[in-house]
Amino acid sequence: MRLGLRQSSVQFCGGVTVRCPFDGTSESIVMDEALPRVVPPAKTPGLFALLRLSARNPIEVWPREVYEEDLFHLPGPAGGLIFLSAPELVQEALVSSVNAFGRSKEFLDTIRPLVGNSIVASDGPRWRFQRSFCAPLFRPEQIDKFSQGMLDASVEAAERLIASSEHKPISLLAEMMHLSLTSIAKTMLSDQAMLNSERVIGAISNYLKEVPKAALYSTLGLPKWILRPGKKSQLRARDFLHIEMKRIIDERKARGLETGRCPDDLLDLLLSAEKQAECGAFGEKDVLHNLLTFVAAGYETTGVAMAWTIYLVSLHPETENLILAELDEVTRGEPIKPCHLNRLVYLRQVVSESLRLYPPIAAMARRVVEPVTIGGNRLDKNTTVMISPYVIHRHRKLWDYPDHFNPDNFSPSRAAGRHRYAYLPFGAGQRICIGMSFAMTEMLIAVGTLVRTLRFSSTAIRPPNLQLRIALHPSDGLPMRATRRGQVNHDLKAD
Ligand code: HEM
Repeated sequence: MRLGLRQSSVQFCGGVTVRCPFDGTSESIVMDEALPRVVPPAKTPGLFALLRLSARNPIEVWPREVYEEDLFHLPGPAGGLIFLSAPELVQEALVSSVNAFGRSKEFLDTIRPLVGNSIVASDGPRWRFQRSFCAPLFRPEQIDKFSQGMLDASVEAAERLIASSEHKPISLLAEMMHLSLTSIAKTMLSDQAMLNSERVIGAISNYLKEVPKAALYSTLGLPKWILRPGKKSQLRARDFLHIEMKRIIDERKARGLETGRCPDDLLDLLLSAEKQAECGAFGEKDVLHNLLTFVAAGYETTGVAMAWTIYLVSLHPETENLILAELDEVTRGEPIKPCHLNRLVYLRQVVSESLRLYPPIAAMARRVVEPVTIGGNRLDKNTTVMISPYVIHRHRKLWDYPDHFNPDNFSPSRAAGRHRYAYLPFGAGQRICIGMSFAMTEMLIAVGTLVRTLRFSSTAIRPPNLQLRIALHPSDGLPMRATRRGQVNHDLKAD
């Protein structure tokens, strides 16, 4: 039965229990109008406003219709954007007609200076080679091995917060970015490479914040040599990241020669790809570009997702209590290990709901490379298509109370009846996120470890705005106070 038929009844801590008038069953949902969300413009902006907003925060340009229609054409420069929002159309674009689509010109123009032709920025045989070469790193048994590094990174973050935040508010976003980068270093790089975390995070952030502007220049077809505002600092950030990755690669090569063996991690895998590829088909630059891709894609998305999840938990005490009770029951006070993960059913629902409301990759753009018909609509070559997890996850036809936080959306019975392409935080089809299981494992371990150790409360006076800069960021960094829970065993590390 659709929730829309239900009547509201009992109030509880900021939420309501809705009771079905027909079968008497009830369920709780939180009616939090104050949750951060994008308010679509009241009327379609004129060209000048559209350009200005697109350069600042493109998600603010998307009109109400994209959340209501199956397909919507947003006019703009270079033919504008076609939003595909119905799951059936998304399935056509990402699966059945996938060969008619490639990476969008804007995406490639903005990301290639940073990551060259790496896995994320290539198509065809070049992409296939890189994807299959990296796949072994993401097998379930490998991710189980990585879980210890994820736990260690989470415990370090909890300890850092215990030491620092009783006295002053923290930026939850900054803390989670630090945690997820540490986790990547401990797993993908075997912690041997001493990443300069603060500078790497700062440089990636400086590069990405200029992406909307760079994308607009690309849409307008302006020449690449034009000096747009922010370009110099973006290139400086890029240069630092390249130097840092090169240093890590050189250190690993030297250490490999010294000891005769290297650890079995991402860097190892990339270096062996370099050796095996024919006639420099995968050279030194490709190793560097892919290393940077995995570092950036792996930490930025997971960091922002963990921050949003803990923020939501902090606003919903009932959810927090259910998480704590489940952790107690499943782990019996032990640190979170791979054998617990399948039984952390409610925590997984909370993380999934957080990824629905705040999908880190809120927009996936594609360019039509050969004319194609989608849902009966003919799309010409070079049309830009937008598939937005943010829009689809809040689409009025697909979700009841789309802007409200309700982990029950992912209860097995509810999830079973949903179209596969109505929920796609990790994308779909052949380009689905290669790091999906890695990210889910990390989020369960980190959010579980932090929530059972600390109680978080927001110190912001108003909800943040949402900013789209490849990942979907809270504008204020989520200021929080974190206080240690009294009764929790501080020694959370596994033996
Ligand atoms: C919550 C965390 C994450 C989210 C929401 C996320 C989301 C996504 C999405 C939506 C895509 C597809 C983009 C498209 O089709 O245009 C993608 C691709 C990708 N992701 Fe993730 N990701 C996450 C974590 C990770 C992690 C931890 C890694 C690596 C350690 C990673 C590496 C990649 C790579 C390399 C690609 C490109 C794959 C390809 O083109 O074949 N991601 N991710």
